Amino acid sequence: MAPRPIIIDCDPGQDDAVCLFLAMSSPDELEILGITAVAGNVPLELTQRNARQMCDIAGRTDMPVFAGCSRPMVREPMTAEQIHGTTGIDGIEVVDPVTPLRSMHAVEFIIETLLAASEESVTLVPTGPLTNIATAIDKVPEILSHIDEIVLMGGAMREGGNRTPSAEFNILADPHAADIVFCCGRPVTAMGLDVTHKVLSTRKRVAKIKALNNPVATATAGMLGFFHRFDTKKYGSEGAPLHDPCTVAYLLQADIFDGKQCNVSVETQSRLTLGHTAVDFWNVTDRPHNTNWIYDVDPDAFFELLTGRLARFGD
Ligand code: BDR
Ligand code: CA
Repeated sequence: MAPRPIIIDCDPGQDDAVCLFLAMSSPDELEILGITAVAGNVPLELTQRNARQMCDIAGRTDMPVFAGCSRPMVREPMTAEQIHGTTGIDGIEVVDPVTPLRSMHAVEFIIETLLAASEESVTLVPTGPLTNIATAIDKVPEILSHIDEIVLMGGAMREGGNRTPSAEFNILADPHAADIVFCCGRPVTAMGLDVTHKVLSTRKRVAKIKALNNPVATATAGMLGFFHRFDTKKYGSEGAPLHDPCTVAYLLQADIFDGKQCNVSVETQSRLTLGHTAVDFWNVTDRPHNTNWIYDVDPDAFFELLTGRLARFGD
């Protein structure tokens, strides 16, 4: 089977970075058409640079990387340095990447690429605030019919929020964009905190990755070492949740996840619950199903997949 064409839209971020590595390790299954950066965990200047540094580390200096929106659609920008460090990828040394930044705006790249593709052929993989994707949909709605699926990291139901009591960071950082994406009419698969909080990068798991002893594995272990400190303290669990790589892991091995078709609606007004994802898990409204809401995963199978794929960079 031909590899599945994808665009990864991200805000690296240590867990976005690992997500990029996982995708770049899997060319038989995934054809990465481009990586688009958005402002999120840190400002755009840093997320696009970090994305390019990950391409360097993975030996993919040919990867097209684009910078997109530097601020959310409506709300004021917010970042997450308290979790990711001032660089976004604290835990490794930051260098000037060799992988160039393409001159086209990420939103233009998304529009152009989708319009040139066959109907229902391209999968979008957003792992940051949804500003780039929603802006593209808003500008040229004709792109929608070219999207096969949107597999995103964002939202929370049973877990509650990680940035406010009811909101997860990616949705809170641009709730208006998230509303557009969840309501866009194309199939959405969402990896919210309900599932990502089960994927814990424990010391033992990180040590296994570190032992692979190739540049990608070493960078992954370094970044997860930093990520670990904050989240372990916050959640009282051993190891930080590895949120974003759940998206690509799902594309590679969907059978390790469990999900349910639901309606997901995003709160865009409330001062108290802005960015909340109202997941109608028990079908108590007549709102239409718009999302495959993922709520469970086999974490050992996830880490086996991740570790096995990162080992490929040593070949
Ligand atoms: C999400 O927010 C960011 O901090 C992570 O990169 C992830 O995409 C988790 O809430
Ligand atoms: Ca992210």
